[in-house]
Amino acid sequence: MDIKDKTLAAMGRGRTEWAQKSMPVLRSIQKRFEQEKPFAGIRMAACLHVTTETGVLMQTLTAGGAEVKLCASNPLSTQDDVAATLAVDHGIDVFAIKGEDKDTFYRHIHAILDVKPHITMDDGADLVSTLHTDRKELLSEVKGGTEETTTGVIRLQSMADRGVLKYPIIAVNDADTKHMFDNRYGTGQSTIDGIIRATNRLLAGSVFVVCGYGWCGRGVAMRASGMGARVVVTEVDPIRALEAVMDGYQVLPINKAAEVGDFFCTVTGDIHVITLEHMKRMKDGAIICNSGHFNVECDIEGLEAVAVKSTQLRESLDEYQLKDGRKIYILGEGRLVNLAAAEGHPSGVIDLSFSNQALGAEYLIKSPLQLTPTVHKVPEGIDRMIASLKLNSLNISIDVLTEAQEHYLRAWETGT
Ligand code: ADE
Repeated sequence: MDIKDKTLAAMGRGRTEWAQKSMPVLRSIQKRFEQEKPFAGIRMAACLHVTTETGVLMQTLTAGGAEVKLCASNPLSTQDDVAATLAVDHGIDVFAIKGEDKDTFYRHIHAILDVKPHITMDDGADLVSTLHTDRKELLSEVKGGTEETTTGVIRLQSMADRGVLKYPIIAVNDADTKHMFDNRYGTGQSTIDGIIRATNRLLAGSVFVVCGYGWCGRGVAMRASGMGARVVVTEVDPIRALEAVMDGYQVLPINKAAEVGDFFCTVTGDIHVITLEHMKRMKDGAIICNSGHFNVECDIEGLEAVAVKSTQLRESLDEYQLKDGRKIYILGEGRLVNLAAAEGHPSGVIDLSFSNQALGAEYLIKSPLQLTPTVHKVPEGIDRMIASLKLNSLNISIDVLTEAQEHYLRAWETGT
């Protein structure tokens, strides 16, 4: 175990209990797992953001009989009180400290791999990539893994395409009940939350530039707009750009957007989105953050290299002064601002994502099919069941197709 401070457990206990109240679907899965023990004898290595919601997932997996080791999927996202309650109250071997350096981050990944996992649970694919490079000797025992994010699924698909992925992965991110909700409403709300906690600035009346109009970008744009900001979107994909236009946003190339933005938020999953050249075109006082998985989207090293002075003014807010006197502000060191400066997505939406995680892991163990070592979808039945359970928990009923309607949908003969 490697955590900051065991005495934080009481605070983590209360906060995790609070999160659990908004996670009825995962709680119902936990109840079933307690009875059925689908993970009896199963060892798991989980590399996830160590948050209250992850705490509830860990309790669910251990209720199912799993032996779990947990580490952080990002150096800045760990909630140290949650790490403490998981270690102290639930006997989980946790390796996560908020602010850990890169060496510690990878030392922790290696430490959880010592469990000799049957199942890996990843958020960004650093665990799977370490396993396939430095710890190959463990691969023969791995039955499968799950992946939480768009970025991770892209990395794993690239491993599969090159024939180097050695075991099946369930792409949790690609379930409809994951990306349509977590990426959109989760990232939307928590990113704005992170920006506000870091800056306490008024968004109303500002120009808010969203780089990337995938599910996360759509969510951030929608919520920034809801706060009264004028949203500008930058894109490379013509279809997404057109969607942004028809959603009512201005679309500009980043070169032009750089000149008008007050806030910038990258959510592309790619490198070199906001470069030093773009920063040089920005207004004095521009605020830059990232809500993509890795801290590669904005060239902060480049900014550091040319800045004449840098000062931390608030928690998660650094000021960089350029030679001409202008100042640029970076939130959360360019790491995902929703977890570095806030608490990540709210429990109510992570309920859906982590239900996919728990059921995806169960599927890997129980599937009668021998899954090939590539990236697999969450079975549609699981996806739809999670949506139904969530609706139930919200006390919302929906209609069902009549027999005649079912028949009509299957028939091709009937036209006008
Ligand atoms: N990713 C984004 N928000 C999260 C949260 N609250 N818990 C775990 N992973 C997350």
